[in-house]
Amino acid sequence: MSFNNLDQLYRSVIMDHYKNPRNKGVIEDGSMTIDMNNPTCGDRIRLTLDIVDDVVKNAKFEGEGCSISMSSASMMTEAIKGHTIEEALKMSDEFTKMMLGEDYEITEDMGDIEALSGVAKFPARIKCATLAWKAFERGTKSSDETTIEEVITDNE
Ligand code: FES
Repeated sequence: MSFNNLDQLYRSVIMDHYKNPRNKGVIEDGSMTIDMNNPTCGDRIRLTLDIVDDVVKNAKFEGEGCSISMSSASMMTEAIKGHTIEEALKMSDEFTKMMLGEDYEITEDMGDIEALSGVAKFPARIKCATLAWKAFERGTKSSDETTIEEVITDNE
């Protein structure tokens, strides 16, 4: 398969998640809510998680944003469900490496995540792709807060 075809395949996977987002919505009785926005563009995401015994039992998101940010959120919620927080944070680390153009390891249970690998070539869009993952990191790495308002700063 040529790179062009691969790009085309990845593009269609991204658009499928954008048009048919998985896990869209809010978990009404979830254990954690994280709001995060990217002030440079105004895009925002609300991530709700249901975490039981350190396992992500459920994850949903809602928000407004570009196709990259929304499809990434859709892919992320699929990937982290059923995993421990530690496993999901490891996924986040690998995803960040992928965005930075470093060596990364994507496992099968991370679903369609690799479709976003091409974003690494467009630095301005990396924040789009990492918005949902940053929300997850901020929520699960915080101590006792259950609702966190977060803003991605320019130097992050
Ligand atoms: Fe704002 Fe993508 S353009 S998150």
